[in-house]
Amino acid sequence: MKALVTGGAGFIGSNLVELLLSEGHEVVVFDDISSGYEANLQEGAAFVRGDVTDGDAVCSAMVGCDVVFHLAASVGNTRSIENPARDSQVNVLGMVNVLEAARANGIERVVFSSSAGIFGELKTLPIREDHPQDPDSPYGVSKLAAEKMCLVYNKLHGMSNVCLRYFNVYGPRQRYDAYGNAIPIFAERILRGMDVVIFGDGEQTRDFVNVADVARANLLAGTTPGVSGVFNLGSATQVTVNELVRTMADISGTSPRIVHEGPRPGDVRDSLADVAAAHAAFGFSPSVALGDGLRRYMAWLASDPVTLQRWSAR
Ligand SMILES: NC(=O)c1ccc[n+]([C@@H]2O[C@H](COP(=O)([O-])OP(=O)(O)OC[C@H]3O[C@@H](n4cnc5c(N)ncnc54)[C@H](O)[C@@H]3O)[C@@H](O)[C@H]2O)c1
Repeated sequence: MKALVTGGAGFIGSNLVELLLSEGHEVVVFDDISSGYEANLQEGAAFVRGDVTDGDAVCSAMVGCDVVFHLAASVGNTRSIENPARDSQVNVLGMVNVLEAARANGIERVVFSSSAGIFGELKTLPIREDHPQDPDSPYGVSKLAAEKMCLVYNKLHGMSNVCLRYFNVYGPRQRYDAYGNAIPIFAERILRGMDVVIFGDGEQTRDFVNVADVARANLLAGTTPGVSGVFNLGSATQVTVNELVRTMADISGTSPRIVHEGPRPGDVRDSLADVAAAHAAFGFSPSVALGDGLRRYMAWLASDPVTLQRWSAR
């Protein structure tokens, strides 16, 4: 099979590209390298540098492909609050461009990377697909709009698009980012012997899913016949932030000083994905235990040339 991976120079996209190549598939990466890295490009994949807001460029990159994995996005709540127009351009217009290009190229399925951010405040646990959807940021709104667009193309044009709502993804090639997730920040501070700052009492829980499981879920969602619709994608396990930091400190053999600061407004208290629907539809089962995934992640981070260069520049 030949696959287009938008956002294939990013954290999750590059892990998916690696998996696709390892299983013998042909891959084209489409990315503008705005938050991704050339160092993430995998040998064996073709690379087209382009912006998903450019419909013609997306359409020509897709020629000859059988399936599209759409991961390119303006990522994160903070970025979207700072620049809501760019968030909508990339995440909504970009989605329309990808769907139109898929139609023009006779491709039936786009697997779209959505986010648990579409839910907003979490009301019931574990979170099923039908949990109320009331996003708290322009990013959540644009991801929800993009999901709805995929579903409308299923209705109008007989496509079988699949939307995967990721919870907190972590793993190799996730680097520090000013808008970023907790694990790279904690890992960096622990490995560099700095204090670790936890917002709130640290007893809030999260569902951290390893990127290897997310890449596998994409492949399954892209290749299993008869699948379409929206699916939650997490590890289906809960960990408190305090436990997470303790585990990471144990792995590194250090005892960092923990500093608690006030809770951040808008942070949810608890999170846990129900992944039964993804299991039933395309056989998804999270397979990487958090301790094993963190051990591999911290070993990767400590030897990542991009990260080491940034550390030495400080
Ligand atoms: N990391 C998570 O925990 C998480 C959680 C929920 C959803 N997601 C979604 O997963 C996808 C991948 O996220 P990630 O964590 O790998 O982030 P990332 O920033 O590493 O990857 C995004 C990639 O898209 C590219 N990109 C951005 N704007 C583009 C544009 N206009 N045209 C072409 N390429 C563009 C970037 O250069 C980057 O390579 C995103 O759609 C994100 O919203 C991630």
